Amino acid sequence: MANAEQALRWNGDTGRRWVAERERHHAVRRSLTPHLLRAAALAPGDRVLDVGCGCGETTIAAARSVGPGGAVDGLDLSAPALAVARESAAAAGVPGIRFVQGDAQTHPLAPAGFDVVLSSFGVMFFEDPDAAFANLRSGLRPAGRLAFLCWQDEASNEVFALAPRAVAAHATLPPGGGDGDAFTDPWRIGDLLVRAGFVDVRVEGRREPARLGSDVDDVLGYLRGTSRVRELLGRLDDQRTVERVLDALTEDLTARRRADGVWVEAAVWLVTAVAPPAGSR
Ligand SMILES: C[S@@+](CC[C@H](N)C(=O)[O-])C[C@H]1O[C@@H](n2cnc3c(N)ncnc32)[C@H](O)[C@@H]1O
Repeated sequence: MANAEQALRWNGDTGRRWVAERERHHAVRRSLTPHLLRAAALAPGDRVLDVGCGCGETTIAAARSVGPGGAVDGLDLSAPALAVARESAAAAGVPGIRFVQGDAQTHPLAPAGFDVVLSSFGVMFFEDPDAAFANLRSGLRPAGRLAFLCWQDEASNEVFALAPRAVAAHATLPPGGGDGDAFTDPWRIGDLLVRAGFVDVRVEGRREPARLGSDVDDVLGYLRGTSRVRELLGRLDDQRTVERVLDALTEDLTARRRADGVWVEAAVWLVTAVAPPAGSR
């Protein structure tokens, strides 16, 4: 089975944590989602696929844009996230939404069944990205649009950079961890989409303020629960260095505190592409 490891993660601890932290994640994305929705340029009546829809915020926003004549499918591996998405859609009372559990890499999509495929941070986890984007393209009608957001690399993106920076100030870590071959390289993303048969491929940087949490303790607790920060701290030699790193992180977060929370600068790629028009395939 493709993406078996991701299916386990998003149906296990990672998925449960994602659901528990959904308000925080929503706050982090608040100024980013409008970039995605503008790029997707949804029109009344559009048929939309939201890939890796998670708890369904963008699915519901998309359904509002396409109106009662349109239809939006939210596709995700994660049963816990989809359960929340279904509840939220019912509470929002927006018609035309269907949530489907499945792997976007292999899920059978109706050929040319969608006008728009969009994703908010849901396309970075494919075991075989070539197969996945070819599958997504097959679901788009000729000249249908693809639009998604993904993160820039850890060093450029304060959502993920704070702890590695604090570690780097106090310890030299052996290479490893971090982005690795993560889905953050704009050239690689562009090449991938061209290989998958998309045209008019654009990968554009966007930076926005993002609220990481209510206060320093809240953000520190959140960061210490992430697998990346646990991994970083676990690689330090002794408790004294761990304490120095946590002090540096606390100092950095304190400097970012405002009356309404702790803010960082999020750096994302806004990626858009088009399925080839009829007659050019
Ligand atoms: C970082 S979360 C983003 C969720 C949501 N779009 C948001 O912006 O809050 C990534 C989502 O992608 C889903 N996902 C990961 N791999 C997937 C795959 N192969 N097919 C479908 N969904 C996948 C995960 O289950 C998770 O809900």
